[in-house]
Amino acid sequence: WFADVPMGPPDAILGVTEAFKKDSNTNKINLGVGAYRDDDGKPYVLPSVREADERVLNKNLDKEYAPIVGAPDFGRLTAELAYGEDCPQLKDNLVSIVQGISGTGSLRIGAAFFKNFFPGEKTIYVPTPTWGNHIPICKHAGLDVKHYRYYDPNTCGFDFKGALEDINNIPSNSIILLHACAHNPTGVDPKPEQWKELAAVVKAKKLYPFFDMAYQGFASGNTTQDAFAVRYFLKEIGQLCLAQSFAKNMGLYGERVGAFSIVSADKEEASRITSQLKILIRAFYSSPPIHGARIVQEILSDSKLKAQWLNEVKGMADRIISVRQSLKDNLKKEGSSKPWNHITDQIGMFCYTGLNATQVEKLTKEHSVYLTKDGRISMAGVTSKNVGYLAKSIHAVTK
Ligand code: LMR
Repeated sequence: WFADVPMGPPDAILGVTEAFKKDSNTNKINLGVGAYRDDDGKPYVLPSVREADERVLNKNLDKEYAPIVGAPDFGRLTAELAYGEDCPQLKDNLVSIVQGISGTGSLRIGAAFFKNFFPGEKTIYVPTPTWGNHIPICKHAGLDVKHYRYYDPNTCGFDFKGALEDINNIPSNSIILLHACAHNPTGVDPKPEQWKELAAVVKAKKLYPFFDMAYQGFASGNTTQDAFAVRYFLKEIGQLCLAQSFAKNMGLYGERVGAFSIVSADKEEASRITSQLKILIRAFYSSPPIHGARIVQEILSDSKLKAQWLNEVKGMADRIISVRQSLKDNLKKEGSSKPWNHITDQIGMFCYTGLNATQVEKLTKEHSVYLTKDGRISMAGVTSKNVGYLAKSIHAVTK
């Protein structure tokens, strides 16, 4: 039956880890996947998550199916985290929210909903570049994918003029995908003033904003600050949708907890939307997994534990900021005369180094430093112990 199935290529991001595992060099570093590591390079389970995990276990809860949309408290708490507790649309029950299978699953629910119900062009405009999985997720759902300029390789920063120009040329009634904060893969975010201008264009052109917020808290260390774009667009435009993930900010990678929400214009519309999201989810996987969502709920519903968690998110963000500085300093120490300011200018989990494909290949082959082909490195994998070796290796391939 399957003699003609062709071999598929390894995943552009997760395939890097597979290659890393096969390398026997003891100095090897994996900067491929965006997963936080502590300063010993070890996976980090947040103490607030450990505490919540224990509390959940001690409750001896049953293992019944969750509702199709997830637990009601989970949805409310998750929406409050994104939109703010005083969000008027939340108070007026205008938000349809469903639990999703982390960021990917939440995006996929959204894309499927748009394929079925978006009234305009079923085309989504994504930034160039964007997270490697955005395009397959949207295409798999049957949406057309087009692009707008975002990153300027000359400055390793935001191409504000290019983005405005391209967004202005998007046909009205299309969907635009926006990274809420800590843009993946570039680490380049618009400034608040730039977000305001972008919102004005999106509104004037009647584009539908689809936000992906996978890193709330990771950019600035503050979940409110990182939600600025989402909240501002909502205030200005009134309607949007959002995919959220708890993989990074709670370190719940393998638990696969996220959410998809749509803020609509009236309450009755919101309940019709929820009814259709339920039908889609039922066909996808029936109902969401319960354990990770219970952990999230436990943290977000207890003000003391929530404060502890926020502090731990800030701790992760701060460690990344400090290794950015240290990588830049070490490159200088190695004698590199290249401008490396973008390492500290960029924010969030990633640094878009500007290394080309040949340099990336050399870095991996000759120095056992693993990263994606686009030159993105996960700063979360850089530690005070490996930063010297990393700087030496980057300098060796860029001098
Ligand atoms: C990444 O970009 O490395 C992460 O979002 C993990 C993933 O699933 O790609």
